[in-house]
Amino acid sequence: MAQVTIHVPPRPYQARIENGLLARSGTLLAELLPQASKVFVVTVAPVRRRWGSKLVRSLVSAGFKPQVVQMPDGETAKKLRTIETLAERLSRLGADRKAVLIALGGGVVGDVTGLLASLYMRGVELVQIPTTVLAQVDASLGGKTGVNLGAGKNLLGTFHHPRAVLIDPEVLRTLPNREFRAGLYEAIKCGIIGDLDLFLRFEQKRAQILKRDPAELEGLIAQSVKLKAEVVSADEREGGLRRVLNLGHTIGHALEAETRYRSLLHGEAVAWGLIAATNIALSVGRTDRVTAGRIADAVLSLGRLPELKVSARKILARLQADKKTQGGVVHFVLPREIGKVEIAADVPDSVVIAAVEELRRLSRGGWGK
Ligand SMILES: NC(=O)c1ccc[n+]([C@@H]2O[C@H](COP(=O)([O-])OP(=O)(O)OC[C@H]3O[C@@H](n4cnc5c(N)ncnc54)[C@H](O)[C@@H]3O)[C@@H](O)[C@H]2O)c1
Ligand SMILES: [Zn+2]
Repeated sequence: MAQVTIHVPPRPYQARIENGLLARSGTLLAELLPQASKVFVVTVAPVRRRWGSKLVRSLVSAGFKPQVVQMPDGETAKKLRTIETLAERLSRLGADRKAVLIALGGGVVGDVTGLLASLYMRGVELVQIPTTVLAQVDASLGGKTGVNLGAGKNLLGTFHHPRAVLIDPEVLRTLPNREFRAGLYEAIKCGIIGDLDLFLRFEQKRAQILKRDPAELEGLIAQSVKLKAEVVSADEREGGLRRVLNLGHTIGHALEAETRYRSLLHGEAVAWGLIAATNIALSVGRTDRVTAGRIADAVLSLGRLPELKVSARKILARLQADKKTQGGVVHFVLPREIGKVEIAADVPDSVVIAAVEELRRLSRGGWGK
C-alpha cells in the first residue's frame, strides 16, 4: 500500500492508494474515527450501482450503520440547491455534529460533499473515496470544496480537508473510457511539473495504462498523489508554489469556458492546455524541441481529443478578462524540462494566438487513434 501524508494545519492526513482498498475501508475508518456515531455515504446513481454495496458491506462489518444519501449526477448538480437538499436529508436522518460524511464518487461528489461537510452544523468530518482518475489524482486532495454559480465555476466554496482519502484504483474498471482518459492528462501534468519517472510511465507503459492494468494504475496514481501532496503541503492556500498545479489550465479553462463546458471534459481541455503551454514555452525560448515533442507525444498518443472550433482571438480575450481579476497579469506555467516548470508573466499576445491556432490545426489532424 502506498501512503502519502498531506501536511496541512491543523492536522495532517493521509491518502492511501491500494487495489482492493474499498473492501477494507470500514476497518481503516473504524481505527481512524473511533468516535464516529453516524456515517453517511454521499454518492450518485452510477457509482452506487457499481460500488455502493461493497463500501456499505465493509462499513457494516466494521460496526458502522451507514446510510446512503444519493445526489443527482453530473456537473449541473454542483450547485447550492443540492447542498441544501442534502443537508435537509441529513438532518431528517438524524445526523449530528459527530456525523462523518463519506464522498463516494468523482470530483462532483467530492466537491459537493466537501462543501456540505464544511457547512453542516458548522463542520463535520469528511472522508474522500474518489472513484474517477481525475478525483483520485487531483480533486480529492487539497481541501478545496465548491459549487458553481451562473456566473462561473467553483465560485462558492471553502477549504475543508478530509480526515482521510481512500483510493482504490480497482474502481476505475467501470469508468467510461472518455472519463478514464481525461483524468490521465492530469497525471501527465503531474509528471511534467515534478516527476520524470511518472512521465516515463506514459512513454514506456502506455499500453498497460490504457488496458487499465491494476498494478500499473496503482503506481501511476500513487506517484501523482505524491506530487500533488508535496505541492499542497508546501503551500496550502495557493500562494506561489501551488500555482504550478495550474500547468495547462490557463488555456484549458479558457477553452472550457469558450465551448460552454459542452464539448470538452475538464481533463481534455487540460490536455490541449498542456500542448499550448509547451508551444508557448518553445516560442519564448524556455524549453527545447525535444522536450516539447515528448510532451506533445505523451498527450496525443493516449487517443483522439475532441476537435477545437474556437477562435484564438476569443481565447485571448478571455485571458485578458481574467487578467483584470488577477491583478493585471496573466501567469503561465511553462514546462522547462520534464519534471521542471516555471512561471512566466510576460507572454506576448501573438505567441498565445499562435499556440491556440496550432491546437486547432492539431485537432483536425490525423494523429491519434
Ligand atoms: N476540489 C478540487 O481541487 C478539484 C480539482 C479538480 C477538479 N475538481 C472538480 O471535479 C469535477 C469533475 O470531476 P470528475 O471528472 O470526476 O467528474 P464527475 O464527478 O462528474 O464524474 C464523471 C462521471 O463518471 C461517473 N463515475 C464516477 N466514478 C465512476 C466509476 N468508478 N465507474 C463508473 N462511473 C463512474 C460519474 O457518475 C459521472 O457521470 C469538476 O466539477 C471540477 O470542478 C475539483
Ligand atoms: Zn484540472
